[in-house]
Parts: sequence; structure tokens; C-alpha cells
Amino acid sequence: MSFKKDFVWGVATASYQIEGAWDKDGKGLNIWDVFCHEPGHITENHNGDIACDHYNRYKEDVQLMKELGIKAYRFSISWSRIFPNGTGQINEKGVKFYSDLIDELLANGIEPYITLFHWDYPYQLHKKGGWLNDDSVEWFSNYAAKVVELFSDRAVNYITFNEPQCFIGLAYFNGAHAPGLKVGYKDIFQMCHNVLKAHGAAVKAMRANAKQKIKIGFSPAVEANYPATETFKDIEATRRAIFNCAPLGWGIMWSIAWWCDPIVLGCYPKDGLEMYKEYLPEITSEDMELISQPIDFFGMNVYNGKEIAAGDSDNPEFVKRKPGSPKTAIQWSVTPKCLQWGPRFMAERYKLPIIITENGMSAHDTVSIDGKVHDPNRIDFLNRYLLELEKAVDAGVDVLGYFLWSFMDNFEWAYGYTERFGIVYVDYDTQVRIPKDSAYWYKEWIESHNG
Ligand code: NOJ
Repeated sequence: MSFKKDFVWGVATASYQIEGAWDKDGKGLNIWDVFCHEPGHITENHNGDIACDHYNRYKEDVQLMKELGIKAYRFSISWSRIFPNGTGQINEKGVKFYSDLIDELLANGIEPYITLFHWDYPYQLHKKGGWLNDDSVEWFSNYAAKVVELFSDRAVNYITFNEPQCFIGLAYFNGAHAPGLKVGYKDIFQMCHNVLKAHGAAVKAMRANAKQKIKIGFSPAVEANYPATETFKDIEATRRAIFNCAPLGWGIMWSIAWWCDPIVLGCYPKDGLEMYKEYLPEITSEDMELISQPIDFFGMNVYNGKEIAAGDSDNPEFVKRKPGSPKTAIQWSVTPKCLQWGPRFMAERYKLPIIITENGMSAHDTVSIDGKVHDPNRIDFLNRYLLELEKAVDAGVDVLGYFLWSFMDNFEWAYGYTERFGIVYVDYDTQVRIPKDSAYWYKEWIESHNG
């Protein structure tokens, strides 16, 4: 069967990671600006003040995407660039930046996919309690409505939230990400519930304000476990390992069903409701109706998964990896099968078309003596992962697109610039971009798969 001819082959980035211009043209502060400006939070105290200077170089970047045969570009909007205070007064210069970017993409035959929120929360709203404040639902849906009102005459694909597991878990549970807090379970679950409500309210508001038919999805992080063998027992054990909620502790944030069942199935998973009951906010049937507004696709950010086998009493057991098994520079396991089984399990449970909204790897990329950037490990990674994705398609999963993370090296959150995920190398002193070997490989892959 293989990929459809109109399969969307794209690349992805996010505002804080590439834009820079942190205080230009009326942009308001966000929590990452504040967090990075305090020493001790980020490796080598890096920050996103300049990043890839994409704010000033977007035309050059779009040109490079075109040269590389990229069909679609997933980027995020910096909320406080449009609403400096998160609500209220709009910043026309910020609006113009995104409007110009969209025009530039379309003029070059590249389809925009807009993420509304990729972690850079307006600082003024954070001071009012952020996701803990029940008003955050309305703050976000008003922002979403405005974005769609402004851009949906030209841009039709939207993603509400990127990896809520991270912008709640890493930010408020272990404090590694902005705003660097550690709050208790009660507050965590309140935030989760408000984020889910904000998603639903945004979907409603976006549909009401759209200038034409738009497509909406969301992008959770999916730790896509895969079975050790294709026996019924191992597959069933893997299904349980993926969708069972984790007991109280760090794992709760990564319970995929806790985030996705409410959105797609309209209810929280029963095991989680039981395990977390002491700490949950009031959850009404109106809330669940709001959260589960129909969406058009299920976005998945997939980097790896664990191999699972059925153990004693057929319970899921993690299969230990062999010593020396492949890892990326950031020390994440290389597990190509996650890109076959992740989409299979998600499509089976949620019955929505799938878009891989992120996949890729960090590597120790350097400019070689010949002036080029050779990244054979990334080419091998992409090749293996995409062949597995093709198997999901062959198994009948409706996969609409794939977005490689990332178009270019960028600010990798708490790791600063020490991790390079791009297929385009960025020299942060000169802002020179050098397409890596993998960029040319991806170009050929797209050419040979787009007919
Ligand atoms: C997850 C996030 O969405 C993105 O911002 C990050 O850079 C990549 N994956 C790699 O960690």
C-alpha cells in the first residue's frame, strides 16, 4: 500500500526554540524568557533571546525549506508576541510576523501547520496562576479564536497543545522546565483538567471563528511501546503497558490515556480515576462534553518506546535492552518499531487519522573539514523509523503526514544549544545554516514518495 501520494512530508519547529527577538516589536514576556534569564536553570545558562534569529531570517529559512523539497511546515505561535499580556491588547507587529510567514510559506508551496501553544506561556498570565486559574480556559480559547480569525483565510491546519505532559510535568512536577515549580498532586490534576478544558473550549471557539473549514488536532508525547513478538499475548501486554495509568508518582504525567481518553473518548480512564481520586478536582459531565469536541486528527510526537513482553500472569514486562544498544546524543534509545506500533495502537483506540507531528534525533553534529555536516546516524535513524511507519500504513492505519523534528538545530529547552536535532546545522555565532547530509536524504525520500 505504502504512503499515499498526497502524504504530507514536513518539518517542525517551535517559537521559543528558534525565533529569538525575545523583546522586539512589542512582544510580551513569557515564562521561558524569565526562566532562562535566571542563572542555573539551563545548561551553560543558554537562553532563547536570539536562538536561530528566525524572526529576522524567516524568508531565508522558508527558501531553504523549498530547496529541500519540504511540503509542510509545523511552527508554533508565541502567544505573548500576539497578546503581550496574554489577553487584551493585541500586538499588530507580532500578528504581522506570523501573517508574513504564512504568506511566504504559501508563496513557496509549503503548507502551514500552526501549533497554538508550544510551552512559552505569557508571563503575565503565569502571575495570575496560569493553568491553575480556572480562567485559563477562557484565556486560551480567546487567544485560539483570535489566531483563527486572523489566519484561517490562508492557514487551515491547527494543533492546540504540544506535549501537555511536558508543559505540566516538567514545568510544575519536577521543575526542570519554566516556570520551574514543584506543586502537589491536587494542583497538578487541576492544571491537567484546565488544560483539557482549554483544548475543548479552543476547538469550539476556533470552529466558530474560522473563515473556512479548518482541521484541528493536538500533539501529545507518545512513548510508543512495541511488542517483543507479534503474538497475541505480547501485543495485548503492550497495549496495557501503553494505556494503563501509572500509579501516583512521576509516571502519572506520562499516562497517555489520562490525556487522550478525555479528548477523544469523552471520559477519563477508570484506573486513573480510582488511583488519583483523592486529588482530583470536581469533574462534571459538562466538562467532559467540552473537552471532547470532535477533532480531525490525532497528532503524535514519537521518539522511542519500550519493548514489552507478556510476563507472569500475562502482565506487561519491559524487555531489557542489550548492553551497547543504540542511543542518540541526548541518550534516548533508538527504537524504530515505535513508529509502527505507536500509530497502530493509537488508531485502534482513538479511531482518528494520525499525523506524526514530531520525530527525529539529536546527534553530535559538527562541520567537517570539507565544510559539510555528515550525519550518517540520523540518516540511518530516519530510514529505519520511516520504514516502520510504512508498515503501520500497510497494516491499514490512516497516517496523513510526518513532521521531522527539527528543521534546524535550535534551543533544546533545559539542554540549551548542546543538543542538535536539526537536519539543517546552525552556527549560532554567524547564524549560517548548513543543510546536513540528512536534509538531502530527506529531500530524496520526499521526491521518491510524492510521485
Ligand atoms: C519535544 C518537544 O515538542 C520539542 O520542543 C523538543 O525540542 C523535541 N521534542 C526534542 O526534545
